[in-house]
Amino acid sequence: MILKNIVLIGFMGTGKTSVGKILASRLGRRVIDIDRFIETSEKKKIREIFEKEGEARFRVLEKEAVGVVARQTGVVITTGGGVVLDPENVRALRRNGVLVELTATPETVFRRVKDSARRPLLGGGDLMARIRELYEPRRALYGQSDYHFSTDGRSPSEAADEIFEKLKGPLALENGG
Ligand code: S3P
Repeated sequence: MILKNIVLIGFMGTGKTSVGKILASRLGRRVIDIDRFIETSEKKKIREIFEKEGEARFRVLEKEAVGVVARQTGVVITTGGGVVLDPENVRALRRNGVLVELTATPETVFRRVKDSARRPLLGGGDLMARIRELYEPRRALYGQSDYHFSTDGRSPSEAADEIFEKLKGPLALENGG
């Protein structure tokens, strides 16, 4: 029996990376973050890839990374917010995994990302308008997930606990499983 991956998807600032780390340690699983995977293999920060090579090149690297990482089993995978833009990414991640969407209101996202300079797509201009502009067309894409959790008003550890409790039955999860 293959152990399914747990794949966290959702918009920037919904807590994927921090929740994923806690969830993985709760399960005794490895966590693989697609953005960190790209940064390690390219030896460049995501911001630098966007600035020097453009978003289109980033999406190519993202797709390659998804192709490699999605072949794993029994890991927690955390993704960048734009991974759902390519349906082939979603198909690949689904093959060995259950998709778990993290949601947050645009106001929560705003609070979480406003002091961080690490997200190239949110740089410059009216931040709230930019969040809405990017989030709205993606909602339906995130919505294709198998499970949905709001992280509004929850700490990463509360959100991770909630996901664990909800998934442990359907996925037969135990500590170390
Ligand atoms: C992106 C989200 C980022 C990163 C890149 C593009 C997006 O990841 O992959 O800046 O298109 O939403 P986070 O969701 O972890 O911020």
